[in-house]
Amino acid sequence: MGNRTTIIAGNWKLNKTASETRSTILALRNRLVGLSTRAEVVVFPPFVSLETAIDAARGTGVKVGAQNVFWEQSGAYTGEVSTAMLEALGLNFVLLGHSERRAHFGETDATVARRLEAVLHGTLTPIVCVGEVLEERESGTTGEVLARQVEGALRDVAPDHIGRVVMAYEPVWAIGTGKTASPLIANDAHTLIRSSIAAMFGRSAADETAILYGGSVKPENTATLMSESEVDGVLVGGASLDAGSFAEIVRAAG
Ligand code: PGA
Repeated sequence: MGNRTTIIAGNWKLNKTASETRSTILALRNRLVGLSTRAEVVVFPPFVSLETAIDAARGTGVKVGAQNVFWEQSGAYTGEVSTAMLEALGLNFVLLGHSERRAHFGETDATVARRLEAVLHGTLTPIVCVGEVLEERESGTTGEVLARQVEGALRDVAPDHIGRVVMAYEPVWAIGTGKTASPLIANDAHTLIRSSIAAMFGRSAADETAILYGGSVKPENTATLMSESEVDGVLVGGASLDAGSFAEIVRAAG
């Protein structure tokens, strides 16, 4: 759709030290030189590498985001990081509600909503992840699950803030498995997500919301996924760790 932002995001998960972060971003910069892309290219290194990432990405056009953030600004919350701390580093983006946070760290739609509210009080662009597990897809409840996750995560978003929210559809069965969703499955799920947003915020807000696809995205399948009308970008895990394959994905996304 015309004016939706295209985003190519690399979620590095629990990978790369600060020095590996620096060398990967510099290698990515070299591979992207001369490439004209309409996309925002963003990498999401671990917290301890963010400052190095910002420094390495300066002047390259590559943006940097965090993989998570807490909802309180300060206080007795051992191990947590606030939105103001991330903004002070010069970050642009933050992932929220990734399925690995939900599966391993007790994240729920309610905690995603609290994080999202905190992010929207500041300046970061949130990428809110939703997606069904295999049993849900096989039992035909994908639509319900996606609606519940979207409504749960966005329930406290003010109407004038919805324009800042980016969504990511990441079917859990496709993450790290090599089983990419077919372009048709992705497009249908994105349409469902967009309908839930439309029910909450109106059709035009929904039509302007960028929705990324994530789950075993590779250089070979990027172009077909991106050719779907409802797919506005990709969120890449494994294939974003190597500068060469991530640059190929940026190239394939056009
Ligand atoms: P994958 O991960 O590309 O390795 O499947 C995607 C993600 O978890 O964001």
